[in-house]
Amino acid sequence: MGKTFYITTPIYYPSAKPHMGHAYSSIIADFFARFKRIDGYEVFFLTGTDEHGLKIQRAAEKKKVDPLKFCDEISQTFKDLSKTLNLTNNDFIRTTEIRHKKSVQYLWEELLKNDDIYLSKYSGWYSVSDEAFYDENEIEEIDNKKIAISSKSPVEWVDEESYFFRLSKWEKPLLDFYEKNPNFILPASRKNEVISFVKSGLKDLSVSRKSFSWGIKVPNDEKHVIYVWLDALTNYISALNYPDKNNDLYKKFWPASIHLIGKDILRFHAVYWPAFLLAAEIDPPKKVYGHGWILSNEEKMSKSKGNILDPLEIIKQYGLDPLRYYLIKEVSFGNDGNISQERLEDCINSDLANNFGNLCQRVCAFAIRNCDSKIPEKIQFQNDDLKILNEYTRNLDKIRSEIDSQNINYYIDYIVNRLFDANKYFNDQEPWKKKDDIIRLNTIVYTTLEIVRKITYLLYPIIPHSSLKALDLFNLKEKDIIFDTIKDNEFLKKGGDINKIDILFNKIERKND
Ligand code: MSP
Repeated sequence: MGKTFYITTPIYYPSAKPHMGHAYSSIIADFFARFKRIDGYEVFFLTGTDEHGLKIQRAAEKKKVDPLKFCDEISQTFKDLSKTLNLTNNDFIRTTEIRHKKSVQYLWEELLKNDDIYLSKYSGWYSVSDEAFYDENEIEEIDNKKIAISSKSPVEWVDEESYFFRLSKWEKPLLDFYEKNPNFILPASRKNEVISFVKSGLKDLSVSRKSFSWGIKVPNDEKHVIYVWLDALTNYISALNYPDKNNDLYKKFWPASIHLIGKDILRFHAVYWPAFLLAAEIDPPKKVYGHGWILSNEEKMSKSKGNILDPLEIIKQYGLDPLRYYLIKEVSFGNDGNISQERLEDCINSDLANNFGNLCQRVCAFAIRNCDSKIPEKIQFQNDDLKILNEYTRNLDKIRSEIDSQNINYYIDYIVNRLFDANKYFNDQEPWKKKDDIIRLNTIVYTTLEIVRKITYLLYPIIPHSSLKALDLFNLKEKDIIFDTIKDNEFLKKGGDINKIDILFNKIERKND
């Protein structure tokens, strides 16, 4: 079997329209999916919507519509957003689909068969907004209202018959699993939080609810619906046709290479999910990465705070690729990041329009005028040329390994530095002064074109649309983008045509500029 890579986003609650936080998770996942594809992996990239539970039921009731109808509508806006964000997801799963229900019920039966589920009674706190149970020590009272300390969401008292998953039994196996798989939880800073939570003692987990009906029924006990997180987490295998473990998708892609999630839902993915899987004798995923939050005015976006940034508005104003570039560059991956329009405009003007777009235009215009619109044929590299070209060759494996550690910050810094070098090279070499040394002029143009190609390949996972536009320069298409060819210094076909390309990024005029 060839190299495979399976990446997932969280499946989003269709309780309200998508916001920038959702767009962020999806864009980052798309970045990894695209990078892996150009690096020769067969990739499966999954996203979708998480449609059951009390939160959705109440949201639908508020609108006085049937929950499925309610979900159909908002789930569609998430599907549309995937297109708008130019995501290359291979599937979009909805937890209301039959294929998913079947998987969840099968998993339930497996857990029951292995004696990991029993019937009892739950009395405790529940947050509908987080769809999570909280212990007394995890809540506080503010203005006479009980809220969860971690999320600040209101909690309500629940007292009802419930099925429980024997989470306590999996405490030791989980700790052993974390030890054997030191990169299972990333970034490292969050791993310790999870481990100390598990070490502090795991209580059995309530995994069904009886007081509402919007969910997947417990097999053979239809008064209960399955806890929405057990339902939702299963999407990662139901999309691979679980329980059919012999089908191609499951065989190729499970265990997942990485579940990319926000830090707010790490416990569900790094504790409950591997415990369910271990109990059902299924391998846990290889990695769970909890990224930080996008903050707006230094606060996490939420409907109640009224500080939601709408990705569609930003895209309408600035275009998609600038937003993708900005989020990937400016939000230090793994940490929270505040986003501002001013910084977005800085990124567009300096990195995208000046350093990248302008470089493409300059070398293209120069080659059209001085090299008869052809990629130069007669060239002779000198040290200066080889030095800048070989920079890429030397770093190929380093880039791969940094990507495998999700070090996006390294990747983007690397690109920014290469853009700087490339512009400096073209300026310093002054090809316009070499008109009486045609070999030298040709070599400088060829070298710069090669650098533009290499940088554009690197930029493709971040700004796919603009990168393809830039590659029109050389008539290169998406299928030609192979990461490994970055080490090739004479990839561009000598004598091939150079096409004039449109301006890649328009500068944003600002009052103070
Ligand atoms: N439905 C659950 C996930 C189930 S996965 C099996 C859920 N949905 S959610 O819609 O509330 O949020 C999903 C994810 O959106 C978060 O984990 C996070 O990845 C992303 N974000 C939501 N708000 C965010 C920010 N403000 N910033 C960055 N990402 C955040 O939780």
